[in-house]
Amino acid sequence: MKVLIINGPNLNMLGRRDPATYGSVTLPDIEQRIRARAAELNVEVEFFQSNHEGAIIDHIQKAASSASGIIINAGAYTHYSHAIRDALADAKLPVVEVHLSNIHAREEFRHTSVIAPVAVGQIAGLGPQGYIFALEHLVQRVAQKS
Ligand code: DQA
Repeated sequence: MKVLIINGPNLNMLGRRDPATYGSVTLPDIEQRIRARAAELNVEVEFFQSNHEGAIIDHIQKAASSASGIIINAGAYTHYSHAIRDALADAKLPVVEVHLSNIHAREEFRHTSVIAPVAVGQIAGLGPQGYIFALEHLVQRVAQKS
């Protein structure tokens, strides 16, 4: 079983970016934590980060056929990219949407997610642990379905 973990724009800047909101952890740190939990769960993980909408869509289209689930933090694209939402819907895989911060407690424009309707669920505000919970959920979900 393989899970895709996709991070969108500006998440490559974690550690330096608005630490009051996102903390001091870097994206490689988060990926390392996910990798460690994935090894315990005996699941393969594939990481992808891009600041470009089209590159994220290309990756979803290319990688989905060999994966069992997708974890995505689409950054600000969450709030308006119908194109990423369509790519996720077309992938026909369980998707968990993750946000480090609680988007519902922030500015109004962050309260809307155009991705949420095509996701099985959304985790927001739990920091890097949100990715771990998302991974655990997908592993359990796929095991139940097979
Ligand atoms: C974010 C929340 C988004 O609103 C923001 O644009 C991000 C990060 C989060 O992880 O909390 O880039 O997705």
